[in-house]
Amino acid sequence: MNGKRLKLVGGLAVALTVIGGLGATGAAAAPGAPGPRYTAGSQGAGDAYFPYSGNGGYDVSHYDLDVTYTPPAAAPAPLEGRFEGVATIDLVATQDLDRFNLDLRGMEVSSLTVDGKPARAIAPPAPGAEVDGAAYWHVQDDEERIWELTVQPRPKIKKGQSVQLVVEYGGTTTRPLDIEEAPYGWWTTRDGAMVVSEPDGSMTWYPVSDHQTDKASYSFAITVPEGKVAVANGVQSKPEQTAGGWTTWYWDAPDQQASYLTTASVGDFELRPTYTSTSGVPIIDAVDTKITGNALTNTNASLGLQPQMIDFLESRFGPYPFNSYGSIVDNDSVGYALETQTRPVYSGSAGQGTVLHELAHQWFGNAVSPERWADIWLNEGWATYATWLWTEHRGGITAQQAYNNWYAPARTPAYWSFQIGDPGALGLFATQVYNRGAATLHALRVEVGDEAFFAGSRLWLERHNDSAGTAEDFQAVFEEVSGEDLDAFFQTWLYDQVKPPATWTLP
Ligand code: TRP
Ligand code: ZN
Repeated sequence: MNGKRLKLVGGLAVALTVIGGLGATGAAAAPGAPGPRYTAGSQGAGDAYFPYSGNGGYDVSHYDLDVTYTPPAAAPAPLEGRFEGVATIDLVATQDLDRFNLDLRGMEVSSLTVDGKPARAIAPPAPGAEVDGAAYWHVQDDEERIWELTVQPRPKIKKGQSVQLVVEYGGTTTRPLDIEEAPYGWWTTRDGAMVVSEPDGSMTWYPVSDHQTDKASYSFAITVPEGKVAVANGVQSKPEQTAGGWTTWYWDAPDQQASYLTTASVGDFELRPTYTSTSGVPIIDAVDTKITGNALTNTNASLGLQPQMIDFLESRFGPYPFNSYGSIVDNDSVGYALETQTRPVYSGSAGQGTVLHELAHQWFGNAVSPERWADIWLNEGWATYATWLWTEHRGGITAQQAYNNWYAPARTPAYWSFQIGDPGALGLFATQVYNRGAATLHALRVEVGDEAFFAGSRLWLERHNDSAGTAEDFQAVFEEVSGEDLDAFFQTWLYDQVKPPATWTLP
């Protein structure tokens, strides 16, 4: 379902002409004449950093993903898997639709139906060219980062109409790289796949409106060779079934979910028995059986704290937002973790601070997502600040001391000139987004006082729950609870390209 609509950015109009035809609606109407009633849904959600991510003209309500996956053979065979998928997508048109797009990268579509009516595959038409009948075409331009699957349904779709799309697709999986050349998407491992897609890697494994302004619920049937375990978001909707050397794992994630938070990781996992937080959240962990020694000891110690961590964050920020929780710990180490919804993924081992960080993202980032990628500090600043609060709660240094430790040392001009409120696509996960982001929240707390700070945090989470919000929305909430004008505050912390003054540093 859509949150608020984003404004189209300048770059998008240019991009439209580059692809040609994707957004075209035919010859211009005579002045004063009504425009064509059925038009093309936009090919992006309007995000300035990723103009082709997400799509317009419809709202997805549910993705049902049926995947059959064969992991790579033993080394020295290439690290490539075989992937076949059937995506059943329920969507509602938000305008009269002549055609619309999905995002899909590195996969080939073999069949596509809209409400059971087949569309035929064609080559991308020339700009402005008319296409007869129901059809689909796929532009995959790695250089320009354009991955757009266009569907022309016939009959056309009326505004408000619900339709079901079934896409059969597949391909060879590899190790996709994001814009920063960091691994993401359906990241093929020797024993399976570690599926971590922030910011726009979900399109590497299913056709999707790949932007957090269109959240949806999910269900999964993941079929893997017998002995492999597939773990996705949510809960197992029924026991796995094995036949003829293949096991199908069924998962159900009924809560609204941003596409970058979808996972269906495959590996040699031990799926551990479910346990619960005090408040009754079922916790389901999957740990790679190849993790041993210190890595396993540390991982088990951190995972064992998850119930207490949930209790702690609930006491500060209100109820845990989803139907379940738990961790996926993969041994294929690329050295980082992602807060996939209800079930973060860790590589190598799971440290205590990281586990708290990914858990905090369930409130900050997942239940309430950054409406634009430029708002990423609302994710990483909060998750980092939550670790400061946890450390204090556990008898370590206070949040104030953590802030002082960040504030005191001399840092380079380059460090201070970085704008966390507009980090750029290449700066989304820069260190400043995390620690200046956390410091921003601590300074805000000093500015408005504890009571308004925690009231504002909860109001933010309630108001934008299951949806998304911007830095301006965030400011509005804290102005409301504090009665203060916070323009200068957020200007200083998010945009001023210098070290913030000591105004917010308590003794
Ligand atoms: N959001 C992650 C964190 O908890 C970092 C991250 C961004 C990431 N993109 C990723 C991790 C892709 C794994 C894969 O800070
Ligand atoms: Zn994070």
